[in-house]
Amino acid sequence: MILTDEQKAILNGEKGETLSKVLQTVIRYGELFGAEKLVPITSEYNHLVTSFGLKALGPVYDLMNQLIEAGAVSGQKFSVDPRPLDPNVPKNFLQNFIFNHFMYSKQDFYEDQLNKLGLMDKDAFSCTCYMDEVGNKPKKGDVLSWAESSAVVYANSVLGARCNRKSGIIDIMGSVVGYVPYFGLLTDEGRKATWVVEIKTTKKPEAQLLGSAIGMKVMEAVPYVKGLDKWLGNELDDAACTYLKDFGAATASNGAVGLYHIDGLTPEAKESGEALIAENAKVYVIDDAELQRVYDNYPIIWKNPDAKPKLCFMGCPHMSLEQLKTWTDKVEAGLKKAGNAKVVIPTVFTAAPAVIKEFEKTPYAARLKATGVIVSYICPLMYMNNPLCGKMPVITSSNKLRTYTTARYYTDDEILVQITGGKK
Ligand code: F3S
Repeated sequence: MILTDEQKAILNGEKGETLSKVLQTVIRYGELFGAEKLVPITSEYNHLVTSFGLKALGPVYDLMNQLIEAGAVSGQKFSVDPRPLDPNVPKNFLQNFIFNHFMYSKQDFYEDQLNKLGLMDKDAFSCTCYMDEVGNKPKKGDVLSWAESSAVVYANSVLGARCNRKSGIIDIMGSVVGYVPYFGLLTDEGRKATWVVEIKTTKKPEAQLLGSAIGMKVMEAVPYVKGLDKWLGNELDDAACTYLKDFGAATASNGAVGLYHIDGLTPEAKESGEALIAENAKVYVIDDAELQRVYDNYPIIWKNPDAKPKLCFMGCPHMSLEQLKTWTDKVEAGLKKAGNAKVVIPTVFTAAPAVIKEFEKTPYAARLKATGVIVSYICPLMYMNNPLCGKMPVITSSNKLRTYTTARYYTDDEILVQITGGKK
């Protein structure tokens, strides 16, 4: 790896032994991927994926302590993934006991470490850190050291920033030393699409289902999606960004997509169009039947497949302000149609603390509360990691949550019918 004089000085310990070790780690990680140089991180803020004070993460706390004690704190302030616990989310006595004594008993301790390391503010806990309300929104061309897969794919694709997918520890190391290895999605060549996806559906495809289909087909490759602008338009307005947030999270979790281009919509596709497609790119055609095939093939891993759902989670990744508002309208209308006053399945909508604050300033908040829906800043995945919660029949329209937990996927329309008690 070719290093600059400044990087050589860090490596030689001129800024302390700890920073030298951190740089060595970043170099080794880059060498594994054939990187020949390091480039500076240029975003204003970083984002960390490790937000949870899990009891079993002793080595991470030791590492964080070493960094803090050596003054090797993050060069950038950062946001972090959602908190794993929220008292407002329903749980029984035993589940609560396990959360507090066996799982996230180090939460306060860890949050104190995050503060010392450079947390943006006490409420900067969300995977949708790029939303205006949260304030960690990279600019086009910014080089990042992020690890949260749903945020990485959004930053690369919708914002035009540059970031490779990596582990949480490498994310912190990059942020502390201020450099990341130059390879993959940081390079123009690495951002070329090796798959062309042609959308030929008769209606707007469900974001989370389409993302799942594409993710499972292309895995870690870059897809160039044609025909979606017919349904989303050619402007990145709130509705399009919300759709792409959910679509991207599904591509990243059901496959390992770190960047996609949407013809006529995302910044690089608007600029360069089909010049972004690599030679000999493969083609994947998606029509109604293909989406149905994908949906029908999801395994149902509930012990009793006919069990009545005990909980519904919406908002993985966290919901946007526009999503909270449109879902308020939808839930109200669904309840009216079904002749019910409140949701018939305990339902939690999750969003960033800063988005919830804004939502609470609108009349929608009281309306949603009246339907019985709970709004929370929790990460549903952290909740489902509790073995007792994992045994419960939980429903969701998040394909990320379906992939990593026992939660069962339904489309948005199906979820609405279930939680409002309407007729299937
Ligand atoms: Fe966000 Fe947690 Fe889902 S980090 S994407 S809410 S798994």
